[in-house]
Amino acid sequence: MHMFASSHLVEVDIEGGVCKIEEIGYPIIGFGTYPLTGKVCSTAVEQAAKIGYRIIDTATFYENFDSIAQALKGQDRHHFYIISKVWHDKQFPEDLRKDLDRTLEQLQTDYLDAYLLHWPNSKVSIKKTLAAMEELRQQKKIRHIGLSNVSVNHLKKALEKGIPITWVQVEMHPYFYDRELLNFCREHSIAVQAWRPLDLGRITEDTMLNEMGKKYGKTACQVALRWIIQHGCIPLPGSKNENHIRENLDIMNFALSKEEMQKIDQRASTGNRCRLKEEDGFGFTDELDLSYDECWPN
Ligand SMILES: NC(=O)c1ccc[n+]([C@@H]2O[C@H](COP(=O)([O-])OP(=O)(O)OC[C@H]3O[C@@H](n4cnc5c(N)ncnc54)[C@H](OP(=O)(O)O)[C@@H]3O)[C@@H](O)[C@H]2O)c1
Repeated sequence: MHMFASSHLVEVDIEGGVCKIEEIGYPIIGFGTYPLTGKVCSTAVEQAAKIGYRIIDTATFYENFDSIAQALKGQDRHHFYIISKVWHDKQFPEDLRKDLDRTLEQLQTDYLDAYLLHWPNSKVSIKKTLAAMEELRQQKKIRHIGLSNVSVNHLKKALEKGIPITWVQVEMHPYFYDRELLNFCREHSIAVQAWRPLDLGRITEDTMLNEMGKKYGKTACQVALRWIIQHGCIPLPGSKNENHIRENLDIMNFALSKEEMQKIDQRASTGNRCRLKEEDGFGFTDELDLSYDECWPN
């Protein structure tokens, strides 16, 4: 019998279009910053902040902390919810602490709102990694802990350690979603962020979503994002185009019907997730198929 810890810090109010995190309301759509770097990134984040985005997603792997710091200069730090992720090879406690220090320094901030393990590493003890994260949380260097690119097996094992997991960030768009994982997260009060919500922009060409959108005066991308929030998840669309940035936030004034949701669900549940392979050159392959026993050493 496993013991599960759970976090009740995030409340997604779909009708109100608000994601309440510890009683503070943020727009339900976050801003993704991969693969933006340099001036393109700072301009995009500045535009996103001006348009009203408050949740910003980054990672050590993206190499854009300086640009984000530049973009948010002069803004009230407390108005933003900044998420970052530590890469696969930096999850031993000492490496993780160093990664966070460098992250904070480059982002020019004293704390992260959420710090996530970018990909699970089956060679590193999850107990030790989470204990290090919890220590950083107690030190108020991070507010919330999260995991990314995990399976239900990973989550079960992580939750057993009794450290509150607030977020899971996973691939989710109208061509793929992991219903089992979403249900598990809901049962354990873990909030879900959706990466690649527009399938890298390919959603624009989707006949079914374009047709659905016509009825509401919305684009296929807006339909995709709306589908995600109606699942109670936070999409993280990325864009360097001001019109797209604006368009992606403008999804609160319509709702998909139950039938439309089911139609998208049905197709998405037959799709495949993106997998990391040796030839992708990341230095590791993903480990989403590992069993409960194999997924993380204690
Ligand atoms: N945890 C993880 O492992 C992981 C993995 C991948 C991504 N992420 C996060 O998730 C975020 C989003 O993922 P992503 O950027 O890979 O995919 P995405 O948001 O699905 O797609 C981004 C692409 O869509 C285009 N686009 C955005 N809005 C559009 C619109 N309204 N109409 C037409 N095209 C539009 C953008 O082009 P324009 O610039 O021209 O608008 C860009 O090329 C990333 O930025 C990152 O923060 C996390």
